[in-house]
Amino acid sequence: MDKLRVAVLGATGMAGQWFASLLEEHPYFELVALGASKRSAGKRYREAVKWIIPRPFPEKFGDLVVFDASDPESLPEKVDFVFSALPSEVAGEIELKYLKKGIDVISNASPFRLEPDVPLMNPEINADHLELLKNQKRWGAKLVKNPNCTTAVLTLPLKPILDEFGIEDISVVTMQAISGAGFAGLTAYSIVDNLIPYISKEEYKVKVESKKMLGALRNGQIVPADFIIEATTTRVPVLDGHTEVVYVKTERATDAEAVKDALNSFKGEPQLLSLPTAPERPVIVREEPDRPQPRLDRMNGNGMSVTVGRIEVMDTKRIRMVLVGHNLLRGASGVSLLTAELMYKKGYMT
Ligand SMILES: NC(=O)c1ccc[n+]([C@@H]2O[C@H](COP(=O)([O-])OP(=O)(O)OC[C@H]3O[C@@H](n4cnc5c(N)ncnc54)[C@H](OP(=O)(O)O)[C@@H]3O)[C@@H](O)[C@H]2O)c1
Repeated sequence: MDKLRVAVLGATGMAGQWFASLLEEHPYFELVALGASKRSAGKRYREAVKWIIPRPFPEKFGDLVVFDASDPESLPEKVDFVFSALPSEVAGEIELKYLKKGIDVISNASPFRLEPDVPLMNPEINADHLELLKNQKRWGAKLVKNPNCTTAVLTLPLKPILDEFGIEDISVVTMQAISGAGFAGLTAYSIVDNLIPYISKEEYKVKVESKKMLGALRNGQIVPADFIIEATTTRVPVLDGHTEVVYVKTERATDAEAVKDALNSFKGEPQLLSLPTAPERPVIVREEPDRPQPRLDRMNGNGMSVTVGRIEVMDTKRIRMVLVGHNLLRGASGVSLLTAELMYKKGYMT
């Protein structure tokens, strides 16, 4: 099968740069167009982008002229689908324009994430949710969403715990990286030597998105998971990689070794299908008392694994764990790409 042709919307931003890097050589997809705001449109990619991610600039895209992502009519090439890394404030309206033109959208932005017919994907935990697309007929093209970064990282280790031991309630406190706020998100003066104990709308997103993603597909609809979940989200002066301290009350008794086994042996459909972006181990357990750490563990599995440590079980039903995952890879561009690979392999992209 020929490679599918794809454009990235928001290609100059943090998530957009990772898309360009991940798509430089890809076995299924060929990146043919890079879109950004009107400010960047008309410039060559190398001039429009302030390259900042810790990967070499993808020279093969350097001379592509950036198009105005807000207008699908200005796409310079025919494409099979688009990845959207647009800011949430503008993404809803712009993504609809692409859908109405018959172009499938796989998006990182928050609008439509909770719509009942829109799959909210983290492929290892809910590959079956793609079946929602069979009844998603309102636009004439497919819309698939990825969760917010914190939820993508959190739900990966929660899935094997839910399956093996059941979950009654979850309490999570996050320490989130600066890059999660986007390229122009925070001034140095506000975050260096500091911690900000609030991230707008984040706690709500963690609660509702995790229940949808860990919910069950029944009769073509998602029944949200029925655990209780509380979240406190904070921003810390780390460049990339979210850290989360998680307490989980399980339904059935367990112990630390059983939890570690469940996490270490967890695999999903991306591993069974050997998808190009699938990490060999989605969840990696570390035994050292001072791991995981964002600087040391965020790139595990090429940024697609979540690393879990400090696992303890109290009173047989309360698990404590600390996890680290890359907010721009497992939390954004990487999980979008993995979703697209799953859709390609399962025949959802025609
Ligand atoms: N950062 C993360 O960790 C993360 C994780 C999960 C999800 N997300 C979501 O992913 C999306 C992108 O996040 P980001 O951090 O990469 O943002 P970002 O660094 O601020 O980049 C935004 C991109 O969108 C373009 N853009 C801005 N306004 C536009 C408009 N009106 N029309 C067309 N293009 C426009 C920008 O182009 P110019 O350069 O021309 O301004 C830039 O390419 C957001 O919805 C965010 O919530 C981010």
